[in-house]
Amino acid sequence: MSQFDVAVIGAGPGGYIAAIRAAQLGFHTVCIDAGVNKAGDAPALGGTCLNVGCIPSKALLQSSEHVHTILHDFADHGISLSEVRFDAEQMIARKDAIVTKLTGGIKYLFQKNKVESVFGRAAFAGKNGDLWQLIVDNGKGEYRSIDAKHVIIATGSVPRPLPLVEIDNINVLDNEGALNLSRVPGKLGVIGSGVIGLEMGSVWKRVGAEVTVLEAAPTFLAAADQQIAKEAFKYFTKEQGLDIQLGVKIAAINKGNNSVSVQYEHNGESKTVVFDKLIVAIGRVPNTQGLHPEAVGLALDERGFVVVDEECRTNLPNVWAIGDVVRGPMLAHKASDEGVAVAERIAGQKPHLDFNCIPWVIYTDPEIAWVGKTEEQLKAEGIAYKKGTSGFGANGRALGLGKAKGTVKVLSCAETDRVLGVHMIGPMVSELVAEAVMAMEFKASSEDIARIVHAHPTLSEVLHEAALAADKRALHG
Ligand code: FAD
Ligand code: NAI
Repeated sequence: MSQFDVAVIGAGPGGYIAAIRAAQLGFHTVCIDAGVNKAGDAPALGGTCLNVGCIPSKALLQSSEHVHTILHDFADHGISLSEVRFDAEQMIARKDAIVTKLTGGIKYLFQKNKVESVFGRAAFAGKNGDLWQLIVDNGKGEYRSIDAKHVIIATGSVPRPLPLVEIDNINVLDNEGALNLSRVPGKLGVIGSGVIGLEMGSVWKRVGAEVTVLEAAPTFLAAADQQIAKEAFKYFTKEQGLDIQLGVKIAAINKGNNSVSVQYEHNGESKTVVFDKLIVAIGRVPNTQGLHPEAVGLALDERGFVVVDEECRTNLPNVWAIGDVVRGPMLAHKASDEGVAVAERIAGQKPHLDFNCIPWVIYTDPEIAWVGKTEEQLKAEGIAYKKGTSGFGANGRALGLGKAKGTVKVLSCAETDRVLGVHMIGPMVSELVAEAVMAMEFKASSEDIARIVHAHPTLSEVLHEAALAADKRALHG
């Protein structure tokens, strides 16, 4: 048995960051994680994000973007190549190397910060005085007992299953399988036009797959500002050739030897399409498997999320929960910031996390990014607002990059001019959104952004111009 001040369960971006911060604040900290590497033969820290999420998907998006650029954009620059070959296995190997480097980096950070790292699945066992008791099963018939004053649950999420079909990661894939195809499928089906569907659909489309996306909702990217979503839909379908079908009802899925047939209803018609591979990306669900919440009376809601208050406190004293396993967006940076905040609260500090200032990014081309309220939300909440938009079409830097497409929209309060939301589609808006987040965190007005000097020629001038436009002072509009 070992005793700690803080035990963190899960070493994803929520858990590993919480553990490091807790150790930095002087707590004797252990981080328990059950993750294993792709080969299944060694522990791998970093959770979904580093192993089968953010990092590998962005590596593949970059590789596939290079392929697309060479094939479609190089001629414009006067560059011609007599032969272009693409090796999917090499693309996957490069991605695996990035994953290995980063997951190994966490091991180093744990050592540096004196976080004890324990491999295995942790379950609540009970309470011993004011210490919580955990049992860790390493899968080899060995169990270790850990007692801790504070427990931070950071057990993440897993793919939402589709009752009609079982994921085999051979022909029917979840995110893990979609990130590991070693050959380009001729015909790829994707169920769900959410973030994973669009990012993974883009990867395989750019390297030659014919991609059909089947989406149940009648609205494309319902969480995004609908002006931006409509523009994105046009680029993805008309320019890039993704076949995105909305308002679809999947009726049956049948696996063949090397194919998957999907039967669905669309616009009152019954259709059947046979794909080489099918990705199922219909959302994610909280993961409390094996945690034994019932052993200590830990409250879960009806969807399986650990119930927490605004400060990530559960119904149990000194038991906290963060990241994908609790309410709020399932994003790595949200998990990490909650992790830091909880460690600091345990230390008696008063950190604050503003959920309205958490940025969203979808790494398609063009990228989509936003922070704050959409126009639809402002209307629904009856908030009067001003709007300024500006496009990348005439932006010098975007033209030089060959990526002069997209829009930035600034929404500010009609009365006070305080920025309420910023929505973007365009080149590198994943980076550009940081300025909007900073503005919102500092409670800036659109005039504040408009009065800040933006370097020329940069993509950030489009945000500047949108802020000017919100005040009806656009210079290039
Ligand atoms: P996780 O990262 O899921 O980590 C949980 C860890 O807990 C895992 O290692 C798991 O093995 C371990 N665990 C679970 N139960 C136990 C137990 N009982 N005992 C011990 N260990 C346990 N987000 C972004 O912000 N940007 C992106 O670009 C992005 N891209 C994504 C792409 C894909 C394909 C996917 C699937 C997700 C992506 N996400 C992205 C979401 C992001 O990965 C998650 O929001 C983030 O990983 C959540 O972090 P977490 O720490 O809460 O949980
Ligand atoms: P999602 O919630 O983004 O999208 C799921 C989509 O599937 C929705 O549009 C939904 O309407 C649709 N759907 C649900 N049931 C369906 C059905 N039976 N048939 C057809 N369509 C159906 O979930 P996704 O893409 O699985 O991603 C999970 C989460 O991972 C995201 O919500 C996000 O939090 C995170 N993520 C973040 C990324 C980023 O930040 N860039 C990248 C990838 C994932």
